[in-house]
Amino acid sequence: MKVDQVLHMNGGVGKYSYGNSSSLQRNVISKVKPVLGESIIELYTSMPAATDCLKIADLGCSAGPNTLLVLSEIVDIIDETCRRLKRTPPCLEAFLNDLPGNDFNAIFKLSLPSFYERLERDKGKRFSNKCFVSGVPGSFYGRLFPPNSLHFFHSSYAIMWISKAPKELVTKTGAALNKGNICVAKTSPPAVFEAYLKQFKRDFAHFLQCRADEIVPGGCMLLTTMGSIKSSDPLTMWEFVGLKLHDMVSEFLKEKDEFENFNLPYYAASREEVKSVIEAQGSFELQKMEVFNLDWDDYIKKGDVNQVLDESARAAIIAKDIRAVGEPILSSHFGEDIMDELFRRFEVDVFDYMDAHQCQYVNIVMSLIKKDKIY
Ligand SMILES: C[S@@+](CC[C@H](N)C(=O)[O-])C[C@H]1O[C@@H](n2cnc3c(N)ncnc32)[C@H](O)[C@@H]1O
Repeated sequence: MKVDQVLHMNGGVGKYSYGNSSSLQRNVISKVKPVLGESIIELYTSMPAATDCLKIADLGCSAGPNTLLVLSEIVDIIDETCRRLKRTPPCLEAFLNDLPGNDFNAIFKLSLPSFYERLERDKGKRFSNKCFVSGVPGSFYGRLFPPNSLHFFHSSYAIMWISKAPKELVTKTGAALNKGNICVAKTSPPAVFEAYLKQFKRDFAHFLQCRADEIVPGGCMLLTTMGSIKSSDPLTMWEFVGLKLHDMVSEFLKEKDEFENFNLPYYAASREEVKSVIEAQGSFELQKMEVFNLDWDDYIKKGDVNQVLDESARAAIIAKDIRAVGEPILSSHFGEDIMDELFRRFEVDVFDYMDAHQCQYVNIVMSLIKKDKIY
C-alpha cells in the first residue's frame, strides 16, 4: 500500500465528505486558538517592523470549512496586532499542503472564493491584495519548500498519520504480527507497539528536519496531534473500527489474510515520545506543550450543532465523521462494498460502548521555535 496514494479524507460535498464531517477537528482547532494567537503575536512582534510578507503553511490542510479557518484566524490576529502597534499589515502568503489525493479542487473552487469575499467584507482595504493562497501537494515527510523560506508552520490532526505502516508488522516468513487489529491496540503484542513507535520516531524526526531546513531561524511551528491513551483506558476510536471490521471478517472477507495484513499508518504518540524526538532532533526549542482530553462526542454536545441531540443522532454523526476520515484508506484495501455495513455496525454499537466507558481523545499541542534567530 502506497500511503501517499491512498491516504486522504473523503472529498466532494456529499454526506460522507470531510467537508461535511469535520466538526470534531474544528472543535479542536477552536480550543487551540489561544495558543495560535500567542505564537503568531510572538513571531510577528519579534520580526523586523519592515517585514513586508509573512509566509505560512498549513500541513495536512484537507478540504472543507477547516481548511482556511486557521488562515482566517491568523489574519484576525495580525490585523489586531498591527492596529495595536500602528503598523500597516504585511502581506500573507499561505501555502495549503496535503497529499496529492486531497480534494484541492474543492478548496480552490468552493472555499477560497468565499474566503476572499469574507476578507473583503470584514477587512476591506486593509487586506486587499495582501493575502495570497496556493496549494502544495506532497508528503510532509519530505521537503515541500525552498530553504529558509517560511516563517510559520501549522498542522492540526495530521502528523499522527505516519508515512507507512511499519514493515516489521509482517515477519520475513509472511506472518502477521498484529492479528485481529488494524492499529496499536490493547491486544497487540509488544513488538507491534515497538515497530509503530520506531516508525513514528523516524518519521517525526524527518518531519522536523525538513521543516528546520525550510523555516527561517526564529520561525515558529504550531502542531496539534492526537496523543496516546493509557493501556488501561477504553478502546481508541480506530481500535473500535478495527473491532467492527474484525466481526465482519468471516462473513464478508474471502481471505482472512486480507484483514490480518492490514495496518493503518497511524500512531498516536505520548507527550514523552514527542518531546524526546524534538530534543534528539535538536533543531527546535519546545516553547510550550499542552495536553487536553475531549470526549468522543464533545463536539456534538457543545460544538457547532447547537442543540441537544439524542443518542442515536449522536451515534450517526460520530459514524459519519469517522467514515469521512477512514473510508478512502479502508476501501482501498477492503473494497467499497463493505463500507456501508462497516459504518452501520459502528453506528449501532458506538453509543453502548460510550455509555459503558469514558471514551476520550487525547490532544497534544506543541509550539516550537527554530533555534538560532537571524532573520
Ligand atoms: C484529519 S485530516 C485534518 C485536516 C485539517 N487539518 C483539520 O484539522 O480539519 C488529516 C489530513 O492530513 C493529511 N495527511 C496525512 N498524512 C500526510 C502527509 N504525509 N503529508 C501531507 N498531508 C498528510 C490527510 O490527507 C488529511 O487531509
